[in-house]
Amino acid sequence: LKTNTETDGPTADRPQLVADVAELRTVIGNVRATGQRIGLVPTMGALHEGHLSLVRTSRSDCDYTVVTVFVNPTQFGPHEDFKRYPRTLDADLAALAEYGVDLVFAPTSDAMYPQGSSTFIETPQVAKTLEGQCRPGHFRGVATVVLKLFNLVQAHISYFGQKDYQQCLVIRRMVDDLNVPIAIRMCPIVREADGLAMSSRNRYLNDQERQQAVAIPRSLQLAEQLVAAGERDTRTIVDAMQRTLDSAGITRVDYVAIAGAESLEALSRLDRESVALIAAYVGKTRLIDNHLLSNF
Ligand code: PAF
Repeated sequence: LKTNTETDGPTADRPQLVADVAELRTVIGNVRATGQRIGLVPTMGALHEGHLSLVRTSRSDCDYTVVTVFVNPTQFGPHEDFKRYPRTLDADLAALAEYGVDLVFAPTSDAMYPQGSSTFIETPQVAKTLEGQCRPGHFRGVATVVLKLFNLVQAHISYFGQKDYQQCLVIRRMVDDLNVPIAIRMCPIVREADGLAMSSRNRYLNDQERQQAVAIPRSLQLAEQLVAAGERDTRTIVDAMQRTLDSAGITRVDYVAIAGAESLEALSRLDRESVALIAAYVGKTRLIDNHLLSNF
């Protein structure tokens, strides 16, 4: 394992850039033959500090870190932002070079989904609620591409951000159910100084929307405060959260929910580990965020 001093400091080595599936298999075969532990950070690029924190964790846990950069078409709905999603590979590579990433896999859509490719994962129960309801087909696309990346990279550990909390649960369930030989590590949300969770989509926000967006983490903080003060009725907490969004002018809300932390079942009373989750539009930008409620 690398020491902290080795992993924390920037290095100038550029990662090896691979776009071809066959080439990736060869490189990974050689790395595995030397017995190194491989860490995988799957991303869609437009990297920010949240992604880089996953990279740092992989660097400190593993001998060899792979970052994948692929804007996966199968996880976007027909009216979502697939075309508009920021593609910033040069800047991403420069950022990753600073952190000593060994390999970046940035395939084309054709390489990942060659003609005739038609097999998809049937998603687990935990994918059916919240994001699964608002974005039909989203987790089918996520689970499928993630399993393909697991098969290609053959990592020992893969790193995901808690910001996509439901995604983490879906992937964990898939890995357990399908006996995929990989450990899943969920890493903490990285926030801007004012609390907004880092997201590649934050760059869509104009100045006014950027200010409004802070109501999302504030609403989650309010849930935490209410729980700390003894409130256990989820309806009361959700209503207060909604009001916080509303008074900031965030009125297009997909959900404000409090659910069981393990399987996202709806809760009327807080009687177990739970999570508060929000999906809401700020202007035309859909943002998600969440906070674990364990203070009871
Ligand atoms: O979280 C993301 O960026 C994507 O959903 C992922 C896991 C890279 C799959 O495309």
